[in-house]
Amino acid sequence: VEDIRADLTEVLITEEEIHAKLAELARRVEADYADTTPLLVGVLKGAVMVMADFARELRIHIDMDWMAVSSYGAGTESSGVVRILKDLDTDIAGRDVLIVEDIIDSGLTLSWLLQNLRSRGAKSVKILALLRKPESIKVDVDVAYVGFDIPPAFVVGYGLDFAERYRNLRAIGVLAPHVYE
Ligand code: PRP
Ligand code: MN
Ligand code: MG
Repeated sequence: VEDIRADLTEVLITEEEIHAKLAELARRVEADYADTTPLLVGVLKGAVMVMADFARELRIHIDMDWMAVSSYGAGTESSGVVRILKDLDTDIAGRDVLIVEDIIDSGLTLSWLLQNLRSRGAKSVKILALLRKPESIKVDVDVAYVGFDIPPAFVVGYGLDFAERYRNLRAIGVLAPHVYE
């Protein structure tokens, strides 16, 4: 049996480190949303793992919805062209929305999404992102909750894909160049 973990040059963040960080962020979110029921909006497909684990860390009521947007094709570079593949089922007017993302790379996806959700009359829109690549940022995005700042390497796992693969890895790691070169 081929083990897909062999395609990583290194593990950047372990499963344990991810879960400890999500627990830490959950305590902050619980305190910040003590007087409201936030709507968590997961951004498909990358945020599936973060949403599943983060939501289960929370001990307050939440509502959950999903959007599918894509700014990447099969390549490794963000195109900046954001397409809505699936919209929310929820009317977010007057709601406290918390966007849940796996990673902020160029920031193009989230800056577009932030504006899009704000224009629907939400009471507040904040962002939680497990990962951020400070050296790859092209547009400044105000992120309320960040898990880890990471170097600009091509990372996969825990929802993050390369050409739709590797999302099912438990840890986050650096993809070996021979896989995509
Ligand atoms: C990835 C990632 C973020 C976005 C970040 O999604 O999950 O949503 O790119 O990139 P940016 O900050 O440069 O815009 P992708 O478009 O690959 O779709 P996916 O979540 O289905 O993998
Ligand atoms: Mn994504
Ligand atoms: Mg992707």
